[in-house]
Amino acid sequence: MKNYVLIGAGNRGYWMYADAIANRYGDVARLAGLMDVNEKRARFVSSQLPGNIPVYTDYDRMMDETRPDCAIITTVDRFHSEYIVKTLDRGVDVISEKPLTNDAVQLRAILEAERRSGKKVTVTFNCRYMPLICRLKELMNSGVVGEVLNVHFEWMLDTVHGADYFRRWHRRQENCGGLLVHKSTHHFDIVNWLIGQDPAEVFANGALRFYGADRRPHGERCSTCPRKNTCEFAYPEENVPWVRGMYFDCEDADGYYRDRCVFDSEIDIYDTMSLAVRYKQGALMTYSLIAHSPYEGWRLCISGTKGRLEACEFDTGVQAADPCFHIKVFDRLGGAMTYDLRKAEGSHGGGDERLLRMLFRGDLPDPLGQFAGTRAGAMSILIGIAANTSIREHRPVTLDELIDPNMLES
Ligand SMILES: NC(=O)c1ccc[n+]([C@@H]2O[C@H](COP(=O)([O-])OP(=O)(O)OC[C@H]3O[C@@H](n4cnc5c(N)ncnc54)[C@H](O)[C@@H]3O)[C@@H](O)[C@H]2O)c1
Repeated sequence: MKNYVLIGAGNRGYWMYADAIANRYGDVARLAGLMDVNEKRARFVSSQLPGNIPVYTDYDRMMDETRPDCAIITTVDRFHSEYIVKTLDRGVDVISEKPLTNDAVQLRAILEAERRSGKKVTVTFNCRYMPLICRLKELMNSGVVGEVLNVHFEWMLDTVHGADYFRRWHRRQENCGGLLVHKSTHHFDIVNWLIGQDPAEVFANGALRFYGADRRPHGERCSTCPRKNTCEFAYPEENVPWVRGMYFDCEDADGYYRDRCVFDSEIDIYDTMSLAVRYKQGALMTYSLIAHSPYEGWRLCISGTKGRLEACEFDTGVQAADPCFHIKVFDRLGGAMTYDLRKAEGSHGGGDERLLRMLFRGDLPDPLGQFAGTRAGAMSILIGIAANTSIREHRPVTLDELIDPNMLES
């Protein structure tokens, strides 16, 4: 039986980890403490779970009293590194939500702490556990495209999911590095993992053209806005009981509004992004992310010396009705194969539950190398961090400018 503590008792902390340990992994894991700067929120989460889990607002007190084997970190992104470093320095392992952190200075601090402590950080890249992504990895490992020369990847967030990043802390670059770090860390990790290459240089453009900038007449937040009954972007979950308990009923403790207007002028993240990435081993990637698409999904094409692989996934819109995914592989002699894969149930395509089992039970083999640590966490955020610098300074940015490559050698 391992003892865990959870730092950051918000949506992800509650639904992904605290709920899983308390309700499904209690035979192998025990949640010894819940910590959050907002005590009310942590108390709400504790009240929803069996076991009377103790609540803390003081990290050191929690660590001293509970003596955990591992700390799970699910705070706002910009606080990940502070807790990761302190936890490693106490000789305790860490499970960190993505993104590992959101800037290069904090990343260096994490890598140094991991090295000096001898303890481990696991980064929870749940997308690696999605059946479609696993199948792509198997095909890539079988060599169907040969040496990878080019990647084309576009990710579309629709105006339900995409808009949500513009309502709360994600709307500020300083909190999460914008969507190119916060969100794209998943996407860049998928590509880095599938093609087995390391990113080297990034040139990027980014714009805020759809949300923000007082683009429409608006109030501070949806729940008090006179336009809420007619606005397409009114926050739809105000009356969901757990949302009320976790956010609306806890506002007086920290002023965290769950439903800020997506057209606020304080928003400084991009909603439209386009990148050219060069990999050290030679592959070139074009990547785009938009947060205002009519439908949600992605398209990925990987071309190599032997052939080309194409895959896509649609979560909303008419294309989402297809019960299967279709992966296409073309060879250069005119041959083509289609692999049909039935869609799986569960959050993130069933990926979350498989990841939890790997984390807490550890009883599944890992032939594809799905378990990820700081190197993968670093490589994926470094593309986004370099992209942010590139957009600001309008120039190509090498990853070596951001971090000494020796720090990423194991
Ligand atoms: N892998 C995935 O698919 C996935 C999905 C959702 C969220 N996440 C990650 O989970 C993390 C949390 O996201 P969320 O959606 O739950 O956000 P949230 O706002 O619901 O929760 C964040 C919590 O952190 C707390 N917090 C803020 N500053 C803190 C500090 N200094 N110390 C302790 N607690 C602090 C807040 O009070 C809040 O309770 C993020 O890093 C996010 O990237 C990952």
